[in-house]
Amino acid sequence: MSTPRFLVTQEIPEPGPSILREAGEVDVRHGMSAAELEGAVTSGDYDVVLAQVSDRFDAPLLARARIRGIANYAVGYNNVDVPAAAEHGIAVGNTPDVLDDATANIAMLLFLGAARRAHEASEYLRGGHFTGLRPDLLVGQDVTGATLGIAGMGRIGKAVARRALGFGMRVLFTQRPPHDREVTREELGDLADHVTQLPWDELVRESDYLSLHVPLTESTTHLVDADVLHRMKSTAVLVNTARGPVVDEKALVRALRDGEIFAAGLDVFENEPAVEPELLELPNAFLLPHVGSAEAGTRAGMARMAAENAVAMARGEQPPYPVQP
Ligand code: DGY
Repeated sequence: MSTPRFLVTQEIPEPGPSILREAGEVDVRHGMSAAELEGAVTSGDYDVVLAQVSDRFDAPLLARARIRGIANYAVGYNNVDVPAAAEHGIAVGNTPDVLDDATANIAMLLFLGAARRAHEASEYLRGGHFTGLRPDLLVGQDVTGATLGIAGMGRIGKAVARRALGFGMRVLFTQRPPHDREVTREELGDLADHVTQLPWDELVRESDYLSLHVPLTESTTHLVDADVLHRMKSTAVLVNTARGPVVDEKALVRALRDGEIFAAGLDVFENEPAVEPELLELPNAFLLPHVGSAEAGTRAGMARMAAENAVAMARGEQPPYPVQP
């Protein structure tokens, strides 16, 4: 067998590079345009691409690709047309589980930050406006005793639920909005006695906090649209750590501006890295640049899993963390 050749589209942390270098030749090409990625993938120079979610592999590209696999450095894989990859014998892998806690942590940060006006408070202080305690200064929303609605009770949704219960919140969920399926007690495990499943419409109406943990699919694109935002409480906080297009960003801008909801905490955006300019101006939008999994240990774990996937794919073996078509 010839020496495997890996294309890495962005520098990843150890032990990723060491695992790849031990197995073959590694080419790190940071900041490639879509055309450059296409050229590399169709050149026959590489066996496997260790990719980011910002690298798009659509059906026409996959039809021309001369690679054995795509090892995504992410749990999400909406950047790859997985059925088209399977059709062309290209394996796809991801990094499940390892980032559940880190992502749940950032969801908590976002909803506490948005509810308690962290961004406004920080700017107020740094702007030299703090002249002493005031009863009306930067009052936010209650957390303890409030109701958290979780859209998508998968691994990350469950990790958020556990944290929210620790904050004394009531936790409701819809498993697979907008059209739910019933979740068994076995699936809920330790959470079975502590969380309640509701249809999506009711979840939207009941929640003081609505946190999104669904994959991006056709049915979750703009799951939160103008109509949903209109039906949320005017005191509600929306949190998105899933994928930007799950929320209609223009409708969200209007809802935040017109006071239809209290605030939003967002780690993901509809057209990343672009962000609706108006969103940047709104004080009730608490915004982070897609850093949900950015804890050092988590990122190292993702690097190991993605590299192990890449090595197995290059050898023509089943990757340890495959994405099923
Ligand atoms: C993921 O893993 O899908 C994240 O969004 C990227 O860190």
